Amino acid sequence: MPIQLLRQTDQPLYLQVAEQLRQQIENGELAPHTRLPASRILAKKLGVNRITIVNAYAELEAEGLVISRVGSGTFVAGEQQPAALAPSPLWRGSPVGRRPWNANQMVAEMMRLARQPGVISFAGGSPSSEFLPVHELRRALNEVLRRDGVAALQYEEAAGYLPLRETIARQMQQQHIPVNGQDILITTGCQQALDVTVNVLTRSSEDNLVVVEDPCYLGFLDILAARRLTPLGVPVDGQGMQVDRLEQIILRHRPRLIYTTPSFHNPTGTTLSLPRRRALLEVASRYGVPILEDSCYDTLYYEGEPPPSLKSLDTADIVFLAGGFGKTLAPGLRIGYLVAPSAWQERVIAAKQTADILTSPLNQYALHSYLHSGHYADHLSLTRRAYRERRDLMAAAARRYFPQEAVWRCPAGGMYLWVEMPPSGPTATDLYMAAINYSVVFALGSVFSASNSFSHAMRLNFATPALDEIEEGMRRLGKAWKELLARNIRVQPVNQRCTMPIL
Ligand SMILES: Cc1ncc(COP(=O)(O)O)c(C=O)c1O
Repeated sequence: MPIQLLRQTDQPLYLQVAEQLRQQIENGELAPHTRLPASRILAKKLGVNRITIVNAYAELEAEGLVISRVGSGTFVAGEQQPAALAPSPLWRGSPVGRRPWNANQMVAEMMRLARQPGVISFAGGSPSSEFLPVHELRRALNEVLRRDGVAALQYEEAAGYLPLRETIARQMQQQHIPVNGQDILITTGCQQALDVTVNVLTRSSEDNLVVVEDPCYLGFLDILAARRLTPLGVPVDGQGMQVDRLEQIILRHRPRLIYTTPSFHNPTGTTLSLPRRRALLEVASRYGVPILEDSCYDTLYYEGEPPPSLKSLDTADIVFLAGGFGKTLAPGLRIGYLVAPSAWQERVIAAKQTADILTSPLNQYALHSYLHSGHYADHLSLTRRAYRERRDLMAAAARRYFPQEAVWRCPAGGMYLWVEMPPSGPTATDLYMAAINYSVVFALGSVFSASNSFSHAMRLNFATPALDEIEEGMRRLGKAWKELLARNIRVQPVNQRCTMPIL
């Protein structure tokens, strides 16, 4: 495995090593599955720092030419996908059809791939670990255990710790939502607030249709699937759900509930305009259909606050407001909340109690202490600033690395960039499979669909990865796309006009 290094050139040593190994792999001198020398040994042989070799191997790994296996070394890749990154059977075959996976399977698969060394993940829904307030929460937990002792470790009222409910109510009052602490049910994450609402509203067997945005938050589609309910998808455009379609749907299908994430929707990032918010409330109250408003991204705004929440505009008392601290503070606390219309409050408490008795009092006490420490406002502005920078970087990288026909909208908040690749080219699944070889993963658009659509769309989380990972991951995605085109997919001229502006 001869390698010659030139020290008097501008090309970094690690790239020289990578280039020469690449040539040897491509011309067959290094056969598939050959074990490359340990980085320490090759570094010594070439008289370079070990990091030079580590970087050279990383470069080749990013290109899919070698595979590193923890504990056994680095190998020339074979015809097969590298074992560590081989997609599980979930990803084989055509995923377009009836939703092939549930959220648990998809999340498990994404997490499995995302945990592999060197993988850049745009797939998940987590906030950035960089900003999780470990010290402040440690302080809060210590204070609670010192101050409240066993009370924080005992059963509590099912509706939740009243001082925390009152604190959340005060935050809502500032957003013109007329509630007090007694109106708030603490839930185990926003997810449970959604589930409890669906549970109480769809108890009779005829009540089996639920209106959702199409695409829709995957975890909500899973709640519906688990309860044998059928989603009715309403398309989303630049102003959010196309509310003008609702009346017909309501008249024809008599749905039991309308679920919406009006601000910074997951997965598309869109925000429902104020006129549409009013129109949604008007049509829903005219036909007596309750609305479930998911507000879990509301405070992650980058261009000023979103329009007023549906709950604050709700004069007919038909809105269930679900929210939580998972996206804005720490998902591991598992604290969410639900404000139900007054006629439903007792029933949602009973349903919550049946589900899991109550949400961890220790975490509720600690969150209350944290919110009173005054750190939350600073934490929110820090994360908003950081996520905004990441969003801008990802949008700029999309412009640089994605084909001209790709369309996306720059979200004014939240965590996701929704990108639609040209409809006549490779599908998002093709790209996913190619991107695995470049150690980058994203969420397939089709899994968020109630109507088997979005086969060419992908959801990219810009909040979780660091800035350099965003640039590098987008570069790799662009490379994977080009490779797909070069390999076999002939792109037809785009014949389907997309209404979304190209950034
Ligand atoms: C729209 C939406 N609602 C609810 C949830 C669940 O949030 P939590 O972790 O607070 O249960 C998520 C998580 O991804 C989400 O995107």
